[in-house]
Amino acid sequence: MAKQDDDFKKVISHAKEYGYVFQSSEIYDGLSAVYDYAQNGSELKKNIREYWWKAMVHLNENIVGIDAAIFMHPTTWKASGHVDAFNDPLIDNKDSKKRYRADVLIEDHVAKIEAKIEKEVAKAAKRFGDAFDKEQFLATNQRVLDYQEKADGILKRMGRSLENEDLADVKSLIEELDISCPMSGSKNWTDVKQFNLMFGTKLGASAESAMDLYLRPETAQGIFVNFLNVQKTGRMKIPFGIAQTGKAFRNEIVARQFIFRMREFEQMEMQFFIRPGSQQEWYEKWKENRLKWHLSLGMGEENYRFHDHEKLAHYADAAADIEFRFPFGFKELEGIHSRTDFDLSQHEKHSNKKLQYFDPELKENYVPYVVETSIGLDRMFLAVFAHSLQEEELDNNTTRTVLKLPAVLAPTKAAVLPLVKKDGLPDVAHKIIEDLKWDFNVTYDEKDAVGRRYRRQDAVGTPFCITVDHQSLEDQTVTIRHRDTMEQRRVAISEVKGIIHKEVDMRSWLQRMQ
Ligand code: GAP
Repeated sequence: MAKQDDDFKKVISHAKEYGYVFQSSEIYDGLSAVYDYAQNGSELKKNIREYWWKAMVHLNENIVGIDAAIFMHPTTWKASGHVDAFNDPLIDNKDSKKRYRADVLIEDHVAKIEAKIEKEVAKAAKRFGDAFDKEQFLATNQRVLDYQEKADGILKRMGRSLENEDLADVKSLIEELDISCPMSGSKNWTDVKQFNLMFGTKLGASAESAMDLYLRPETAQGIFVNFLNVQKTGRMKIPFGIAQTGKAFRNEIVARQFIFRMREFEQMEMQFFIRPGSQQEWYEKWKENRLKWHLSLGMGEENYRFHDHEKLAHYADAAADIEFRFPFGFKELEGIHSRTDFDLSQHEKHSNKKLQYFDPELKENYVPYVVETSIGLDRMFLAVFAHSLQEEELDNNTTRTVLKLPAVLAPTKAAVLPLVKKDGLPDVAHKIIEDLKWDFNVTYDEKDAVGRRYRRQDAVGTPFCITVDHQSLEDQTVTIRHRDTMEQRRVAISEVKGIIHKEVDMRSWLQRMQ
């Protein structure tokens, strides 16, 4: 655990030191769970957003994108169920005065049991070597089966209690599992209470006439209320999808773990409208498609897993998370939800407007069912950033800190470095930048020895360094250094653009999904 904490601290401090993420309003000591993206962070975030948009909108003929407002008519949230049911169960520790999400305390307890399973697997793998069959071990080892049964039983009971609003049983479960406050070790708990996560605000010039509004807690409702407008104006035929990215706001009780759980964050969501009855098929298809998108970034198949929900949200008939191995363990990165016709039917009821589709093949009207994919952009940022940050031992017994971001997402694709600040080398470097900047985000750096500049670009995550030296003046060549291999090659200046393009081009990255 100490190592995990340590690794995570390194991620947070690297994000600050290299201009990725700052605490919001830091000069006033910050604002809890609110963060600003800095010069490199905003580029990385934009690139992740584009990578998602390309895959979801441009590469699918039957998906279009919108950009709905953050403010929505307040009835939206009554209809969607958020006013009544968008709650987290919270519990306070009477001694430490710390507040927790009751379900997270229980899930953390389960994660510890699951960690024991992983330990057993690792031990057995070491013992049996090449002959080790993980599947068989998981299915037959009695100790592992007991752990698994225990973990499943706890989650099942918690899911049932939350679904039935039986908060007393959630508290009993915490007591039975002997869960203590992570800060103080105390087991002196209050009762579990529900807490609505929406932020309220007001619209209007005077206090008397102002209308109570909410800041949207998810972007999805902006899609549902525009369903018919988009369907008609885009002449969309079911099955079709509407995608959008944008800010969402939640008054999270326990906002910790840096940008993993924020109060203001960004979502990338897609609602896929389908015939009633076909939801199982589309749910499975979107689960597969979204996992492929993640895998296309090359961050290791072993770092992802599905987690099927026991406890379903008020709108879903099936739901799964794609979990990623963050520095603090496997956690939800993206959700895939089969939302039935819940949202559209609710909006029909509350607005008195028909939100139906005439199916020309079936020759009938119906309220479409929906399968949703929903990923937090900030959480994806954290997954990419934390996974990419590596300390490497080099042959000469030194270490280097390198941010091995997938090149397609790197904020800056190349740094152009004149070996010295004189003899006309900066002019050649600037000329190269003048040409490359139309295709890529590139940077110029002339300060310090070139070795130090390489290390600085490694730490920022720049995939290529292009060094201009005296030979460049004579034969129009430069050295191009690759961040990951540190290999340096002498190439003609005219070849540089093609070399960078080959490695950062979104097409080849996304084609891996096929
Ligand atoms: N429209 C469905 C929906 O909002 P969700 O599971 O509540 O579902 C979807 O959220 C995704 O949004 C999550 O998988 C996560 O990546 C991201 N997310 C949710 N709450 C977040 C928070 N407080 N901070 C950062 N990301 C968050």
